[in-house]
Amino acid sequence: MKYDFDKIVDRHGTDCYKWDMIAKRKLPADTLPLWVADMDFETVPEVKERLKEVADRGIYGYSMLGDGYYHALKNWFSERFGWQVEKDWVIVTPGVVFALAAAVRAYTKEGDSVMIQRPVYHPFTNVVKENGRKLVNNPLVMENGKYHMDYEDMERKITEEQVKLFLLCSPHNPVSRVWTKEELCQAAEICKKHGVIMIVDEIHCDFVYEGYHHTSFGTLSEYADNAVICTAPSKTFNLAELQLSNIMIPNPELRKTFQAEMDKVFYSDANLFGQVSCQAAYEYGAQWMDELRVYLQGNITYIRDYLAEHLPKVHLIEPEGTYLLWVDFREYGLSAEALNAKILKDARIWFNEGSMFGPEGAGFMRINIASPRSMIVEAMERLGEVFGE
Ligand SMILES: Cc1ncc(COP(=O)(O)O)c(C=O)c1O
Repeated sequence: MKYDFDKIVDRHGTDCYKWDMIAKRKLPADTLPLWVADMDFETVPEVKERLKEVADRGIYGYSMLGDGYYHALKNWFSERFGWQVEKDWVIVTPGVVFALAAAVRAYTKEGDSVMIQRPVYHPFTNVVKENGRKLVNNPLVMENGKYHMDYEDMERKITEEQVKLFLLCSPHNPVSRVWTKEELCQAAEICKKHGVIMIVDEIHCDFVYEGYHHTSFGTLSEYADNAVICTAPSKTFNLAELQLSNIMIPNPELRKTFQAEMDKVFYSDANLFGQVSCQAAYEYGAQWMDELRVYLQGNITYIRDYLAEHLPKVHLIEPEGTYLLWVDFREYGLSAEALNAKILKDARIWFNEGSMFGPEGAGFMRINIASPRSMIVEAMERLGEVFGE
């Protein structure tokens, strides 16, 4: 391995949410934070170097996205996913959640129905409700430890509730499914039939584990014209607070409507450091990302083995993608609050409590595994001490 993901980077005192909220919430100082979705790994070295070069200029005036930016973007998606993105399709926003909210406003009006699939990343709920739209839930169904979409329920609700927009998470946070091409097509076919526009959040597309394959929605030629595809370098390269995402909209009409929403707030240029880091990451980050995936796979193997040996009542939902594990603690029969308190207070580990992703998540925990192995080992041992019998 060229890159050292075992390296501990002390993030205390940097005002980062993950570590500095521990003191703010008055939790024990040695609490292990495996919650908010950023990583404890330094980004690609070339990204750091480019940012330093730009910082050294000392002038941070208005700047535009150059040809090099689009070239890097197009290469990444073409080489990794076989998706040929065109420059004209790309609208830059300061984040994917920002884009989801903009899409809700652009394509629906107050009172319209918007569908999501819980348990799902909680801002999906917020952007619907806070914009005065009606939330329609098409819950994911778990069978034999694996989540599926319920197409019958989907079509029935689309018809009954006159759904206008569907926010799809692909790969899915928190259940860590990487939807197959067939699954995506089945959902897309229903949406197309009923005139439902799809907003596909592919922010986790680069985290897909051995044996699974991410299908970029944009490669589904029959359906891509009915979709807004949200991508970003932020999860992949740990750049979240540089606030840049690339929203790809192949259909000119849909693009015009989304652009009109940007024009209402006169937003056009992305943050300079976001631009620079995105380009450098897509230019230089391929090997780093490949090695990171192998490292994360090692973390998963460690956790899977540890749970099987020491905590057989805790069930890992087999992760196909993302660096967020979805773990089932329901066999202990504890309420969501009691379970969270036991993990937070007794084990001194901060996971995301499952019901924050919808009531379907009660009794589950979302575990962020994007940390050095030593931290993962420590977390499992603490869990073992508290839940072991
Ligand atoms: C599915 C999904 N979408 C969006 C985001 C956040 O994106 P942004 O920070 O660009 O708004 C996250 C962060 O965890 C996520 O998991």
